[in-house]
Amino acid sequence: MNPRKIREGLYSVGAIDWDRRLFDELIPLPKGTSYNSFLIKGSEATALIDTVDPAKTATLLRNLKSIGVEKLDYVISNHAEQDHSGAIPAVLEAYPEAKVVTNTKCKNMLMEHLLIPEDRFIEKGDGETLSLGDKTLEFIIAPWVHWPETQFTYLREEWILFTCDFLGSHLATSDMYVKDEGEVYPGAKRYYAEIMMPFKHIIPKHLDRIAALDVEIVAPSHGPMYDNPSFILDAYKEWVSPEVKNEVIVAYVTMHGSTGKMAEYLADALIDRGTRVKVYDLTATDIGELAMDLVDAATLVLATPTVLIGPHPSAVYATYLANALKPKLRYATVIGSYGWGGKTVEMVAGMLGNLKVELLEPVMIKGYPTEGDYAALDKLADEIKKKHDEDGNVKI
Ligand code: FEO
Repeated sequence: MNPRKIREGLYSVGAIDWDRRLFDELIPLPKGTSYNSFLIKGSEATALIDTVDPAKTATLLRNLKSIGVEKLDYVISNHAEQDHSGAIPAVLEAYPEAKVVTNTKCKNMLMEHLLIPEDRFIEKGDGETLSLGDKTLEFIIAPWVHWPETQFTYLREEWILFTCDFLGSHLATSDMYVKDEGEVYPGAKRYYAEIMMPFKHIIPKHLDRIAALDVEIVAPSHGPMYDNPSFILDAYKEWVSPEVKNEVIVAYVTMHGSTGKMAEYLADALIDRGTRVKVYDLTATDIGELAMDLVDAATLVLATPTVLIGPHPSAVYATYLANALKPKLRYATVIGSYGWGGKTVEMVAGMLGNLKVELLEPVMIKGYPTEGDYAALDKLADEIKKKHDEDGNVKI
């Protein structure tokens, strides 16, 4: 991406990564991503807000040169993760006079992960400022979105808030600002689910601090900027609220068809009772789609055959992920088939310790389902409907 002028003295100089399909060797990126970096030219000093992934270092350096940055005074680091900090060493080499400005925790992480020498840093605390002459940067420490050292930077005179990962989306797009909210919403929700959801109890505090500022533009470090910040701020408020939807995720694996038949039967029984259902074959699903539905589903049903003595490894993976992401789920249960025994239910339940869920009566059967087994699944569907109907946090 070539540099783009946002306003007088303010440029977008980062990179679009159209082709990246996996983050952290874990998170699918079906729509690619971007690493946004912003250059601010003040009357007395020039600052760069965050950098880019190491693979895009050449793009960033070329962009800085092409808009005539001969001297760079400051590199503001809002987050030490390498997709934003990885090019800092190259920037410091290209601009030997530049100092990295960040909080103490972020400084320590940058020293540890990127081996940046301590004398290249200026530390700033919460509420402190940095003057660029006619422009002022204010630092807002915002820990745990999603690392402990994260912060926002607020450009006071322009009412622009640089939030790094927070409020971002993994979306490669040529749009500098959100143009199509329907396109951005799923990307932002997926991003929230995969990255921010484990910190949903901390996020409201950060949203409150943002609400106290005048913010015209939210500029995250992934995806397009928001010139209508309420779009993303309202979405986050909903995602972190205690409310869940009248929705059940049926995540299944089947080896010889028995558990698959049970999952299908239960899904149909729930639909008959007016419940929204999302069914995922765990051997084929994009795990990011599952994470996105975990944001507001009320109930998770793990459907797994018994392999040796426990759940199928694909079900273990999904269970581990659901537990790690700490969604708002209210209820969970296990259904499935076994050949001769096992401890599947105990093992799955034992992996859900992070979740404040009520475990509903499981339905584990021997072999292929029979009439009595279907009756047990109907009873489970009745129980789920009753729980949803009576639960004040479930939006019917
Ligand atoms: Fe986009 Fe946490 O890095």
